[in-house]
Amino acid sequence: MARPVKIAPSILAADFLRLGDQVAEALAAGAEFIHVDVMDGKFVPNISVGPLVVEALAPMVHAAGAVVDVHLMIDEPERFVPQFALAGADIITIQVEASRDVLGTLKAIRTHGARSGLTLRPKTPLLSIQAGIPLADLVLVMSVEPGFGGQAFLPESPARVHRIREWLDAAKSKAELEVDGGISTKNAALLAEAGASVLVAGVCVFRADVPIAEAVRGLRAAAESPAQKP
Ligand code: DX5
Ligand code: ZN
Repeated sequence: MARPVKIAPSILAADFLRLGDQVAEALAAGAEFIHVDVMDGKFVPNISVGPLVVEALAPMVHAAGAVVDVHLMIDEPERFVPQFALAGADIITIQVEASRDVLGTLKAIRTHGARSGLTLRPKTPLLSIQAGIPLADLVLVMSVEPGFGGQAFLPESPARVHRIREWLDAAKSKAELEVDGGISTKNAALLAEAGASVLVAGVCVFRADVPIAEAVRGLRAAAESPAQKP
């Protein structure tokens, strides 16, 4: 039996004309996190949303008892930590490749009252984040190349999740272990069994064939059922 997971719908796949309603539906179905992908057109070849959208969503997310989970895919993320914290971000995750002062930025996130997150591209060696783990409240394993929603899940990801789970457990860390990219009912149980505690899902929640609430509940049920052999 896999461990229980938190579900983090990624608004990147939402209908932005109906963003509030769609997030409300995900929250009503029990989503614990709302994942906001921030892209600068430099660190990744795409541009998305910024602090204004976090500020608009935060009251609704907090009223539901959920957290605003901000994933910064931007160069020099240290420049924007205060703004996102002030806008209502509860967790701010930085890419290890994007900052010249990873440890200082993780500390700054906590100083600004948010929880600190650290992530890495799928091809970046896991060792690159090891020094940051004691300062991270969340470690995010990217299971696609950051930049776009709707990409295919990279099959090497569960092994990376498992390795980080071993590190966290060895350090007696209570940090969340989040996975992001290409997650669906097909791989959710595998990730939960590998040790993930939070599953990010864009297309599989907001562009499913079923209503959003049903998609959230379906993903959780899949994560908590025994994994099928791939
Ligand atoms: C990719 C983003 C993801 C993305 C996931 O750069 O970090 O959060 O929204 O989307 P899906 O679940 O559609 O792969
Ligand atoms: Zn993300």
